[in-house]
Amino acid sequence: MRLYDYESQLRRPFSEKVAEFNSADRLRHVILAEQFEISHLDNLRRTADMIRRLSKLRAGEEALAGLLRTKRAMLYFTQPSTRTFLSFSSACQILGVRSSEVRDPRLSSSAKRESEFDAIRMFSSYFDVIIMRTLNEPHAESCAYLMNDLEQLGQRSVPVVNAGSAADEHPTQALLDVYTLQRTFDFDQETGGATRLYALRNKYPELQLGLAGKTFAFCGDIGRGRTVRSLVRVLCKYPGVKMYFVAPDVPALRLSDDIKAFLHHQNVPFAELDSLDATVGEKPLLGSVDCLYITRIQREHDGPDDAGAMQQIDLRPFRLTPDRVARMREYAPIMHPFPRDQVDQEIPTSVDTDRRAVYFRQARNGMWTRAALLVHLFGAENRLSDVFDSFFRN
Ligand code: NCD
Repeated sequence: MRLYDYESQLRRPFSEKVAEFNSADRLRHVILAEQFEISHLDNLRRTADMIRRLSKLRAGEEALAGLLRTKRAMLYFTQPSTRTFLSFSSACQILGVRSSEVRDPRLSSSAKRESEFDAIRMFSSYFDVIIMRTLNEPHAESCAYLMNDLEQLGQRSVPVVNAGSAADEHPTQALLDVYTLQRTFDFDQETGGATRLYALRNKYPELQLGLAGKTFAFCGDIGRGRTVRSLVRVLCKYPGVKMYFVAPDVPALRLSDDIKAFLHHQNVPFAELDSLDATVGEKPLLGSVDCLYITRIQREHDGPDDAGAMQQIDLRPFRLTPDRVARMREYAPIMHPFPRDQVDQEIPTSVDTDRRAVYFRQARNGMWTRAALLVHLFGAENRLSDVFDSFFRN
């Protein structure tokens, strides 16, 4: 074993990697969206729902705040982040996890030429989980291998969570996106009352519960949006899904070859389109989808050669204006990982009051999902269930 040298592990196919991040039916590290199975997603949904409901009661909040109060989390975010950072930080607060942060590498010992791996090993000696977003693409993955090596050596090892790795993956965003979809496509949520979706079943008799069989459209920066890359990989686990990708005709923004190959391999039907007004099988795209996921153009990834072409793009076919929203199915959620671009206006604020606009709720779901993930990583589900039952079992 050579600590700190993970080049050959990084080059392996996903199928070989997943076993190192999951053990039996549990997530050990959270690195790639591929590692989530439907059973994980269903368990996390139940956990997140329990946390959300308990949080609505004063005494429930207090009970939650005792759940993980002996745990400490390191938030290592050296790439810009608002929602992911704050929702992890809020998730820690909800559960009583104490957290510390490094957001500027100039203020850590990397300014003294400490290696990234030494830094991570230090974090693992003070904290019980490391949640990290760095510019270096495979770094969280390498850190997970380091933790596995340390465990084999009988040394201290803690879970590593990838909170966004360059333009590649954002697995915890996929978790909150799936949670938002699970809750949307549920006719009868925990309140026992019929949801809006239930009422719409008369108008859309083919509408079924759950994510299986749904048609998803993604629009915007498909090539460089890591949230889309991760969500697509998770949604492919559900049988019968179909996908459309709507992006400007610039190679960097279109579906990348690795995701295409993945979709073919998973036998998921998909098509690429060049406008939200496109038709699919003679029907308008907008009237054919069960969910529309919009992203901003990720200009921070523009290279020196791209800048000119990117400025030339006509974004009008990709903007979700209110008249386009009016052509969507009444139940179809409009999602966006945020931040949205106030100049490009891929979703103008005039859409925000539409009932299909779920993006603010989606962002709030990040807090519940990330709290559920912490409960899972620390194996506290049974204790949470006991707390939940003490409040809600009648
Ligand atoms: C996204 C990200 O950082 O990848 N935001 C987020 O985490 N919610 C999307 C983006 O930056 O466009």
